[in-house]
Amino acid sequence: MSYQGKFRVWRGDDSGGGLEDFTVEVNEGEVVLDIIHRLQATQTPDLAVRWNCKAGKCGSCSAEINGRPRLLCMTRMSIFDESETITVTPMRTFPIIRDLVTDVSFNYTKAREVPSFTPPKDLAPGEYRMQQVDVERSQEFRKCIECFLCQNTCHVVRDHEENKEAFSGPRFLMRVAELEMHPLDTADRVDQAQDDHGLGLCNITKCCSEVCPEHIHITDNALIPMKERVADRKYDPIVWLGNKLFKR
Ligand code: SF4
Ligand code: F3S
Ligand code: FES
Repeated sequence: MSYQGKFRVWRGDDSGGGLEDFTVEVNEGEVVLDIIHRLQATQTPDLAVRWNCKAGKCGSCSAEINGRPRLLCMTRMSIFDESETITVTPMRTFPIIRDLVTDVSFNYTKAREVPSFTPPKDLAPGEYRMQQVDVERSQEFRKCIECFLCQNTCHVVRDHEENKEAFSGPRFLMRVAELEMHPLDTADRVDQAQDDHGLGLCNITKCCSEVCPEHIHITDNALIPMKERVADRKYDPIVWLGNKLFKR
């Protein structure tokens, strides 16, 4: 069972571009990345697209399909009507390199700004012990495939280039939260989250969680608990005084 699907694909580079229309064969069981590959094979050999695993695990093929941030390899053609025109565009929040490929180095910069895991000085590697409940909590966050769809979606930076310096985005605020909740991490992540990573700019719209292909509860399980810790420290006078006197 196959049909001729209608596609509109953004083509261009950092100097500009636009949508181009194509008619491409679609076969049963295919995903949008299959169609992009068929387009490359039959009509546009120079169409740029980033991909790697075709299994939803490398996080490379992020783009926007009919305006919604998605993985090209995990979006089945069967969710669309055969008569529908499917529009494929690059992620909007990051600078265009070419066609569907964007420059996601913003995310690598933000990753480097998160101080690494800081275990207690008196523990040697191999002596670390923690409860299963703590392992499970961080396991949810470790499912992240770094597709950056959440970073692309968050309105704080999506149309606000000016916020990029102050805001690390949901993926890296989640990393800060993961470390803050880690029982063996000794660094003070609460002030860092607010002052260095812009946690206060997040107004918990949850759009990041909605687009996460790993279904991580970014807002509920990472960002809101982190905000609660900031609020406890800043606005609870006893905690505030305790922190001043016995800062860890
Ligand atoms: Fe992608 Fe989810 Fe990781 Fe964000 S948290 S980068 S949406 S896998
Ligand atoms: Fe942005 Fe997610 Fe917060 S979309 S505003 S980081 S809840
Ligand atoms: Fe790896 Fe899509 S190609 S996630």
